[in-house]
Amino acid sequence: MLAPFMVAVSGGSGSGKTTFVSKLQARLDKESPLVLSIDHYYKDLGHLSHEERASCNFDDPESIEKSLLYKQISLLHDGQSVDRPSYDFASHTRTDLTQTLEPSSVIIVDGIFSLCYPELFQLYDLKIFIDVDDDVRVVRRIRRDMAERGRSFESCALQYLGTVKAMHKKHIEPTKAAADIIIPWQTMNERAVGAITDLIQLSVKRRSL
Ligand SMILES: Nc1ncnc2c1ncn2[C@@H]1O[C@H](COP(=O)(O)OP(=O)(O)O)[C@@H](O)[C@H]1O
Ligand SMILES: [Mg+2]
Repeated sequence: MLAPFMVAVSGGSGSGKTTFVSKLQARLDKESPLVLSIDHYYKDLGHLSHEERASCNFDDPESIEKSLLYKQISLLHDGQSVDRPSYDFASHTRTDLTQTLEPSSVIIVDGIFSLCYPELFQLYDLKIFIDVDDDVRVVRRIRRDMAERGRSFESCALQYLGTVKAMHKKHIEPTKAAADIIIPWQTMNERAVGAITDLIQLSVKRRSL
């Protein structure tokens, strides 16, 4: 079996990682890439009260169950399927449902923490950082959280100024230096999506020769 081509997509919250990944996925229809979102690997906070859960720091790489993440990414890399956990953001707990992920010739790892764990670097073939000015990210993030996640402006602002901003500077922004390619994403950078699509398709093709 050929090893899959593994791509990590990092960047700050609200930068547009998931948007970029969807565009890439749409262009790579023949390769039908598997997208793995690190968000599902948050530690279960079921043992804490609701107030304690809400005040946790979800922007620290330690809030992810790393051992499970490494294990499942390694298994997918080795061509095996995994039962991915599912996380409920409203209750900050892991649901009883798991989702079976089948290996694919292209695997895309999406999340703010995707370049935070050097242990995973050896498995990645391409490390991407989606780059956007902080003020643009904040506006996008608040708009998304209010429109799609039922949040109030006050709660978004409190969370951003309370933890998100500082954690971004400490943990996420520095990972830009570990990226192979930095993509400006102030606008829908279709040329960059096209270039990365070509690169992935060429690499997959080369592996099969
Ligand atoms: N290039 C872009 N230009 C304008 N808005 C964008 C762009 N990329 C993403 N968005 C919007 O910004 C918000 C956050 O994007 P999302 O992909 O969810 O970010 P992330 O996954 O990095 O947190 C969404 O509302 C999305 O539609
Ligand atoms: Mg996202």
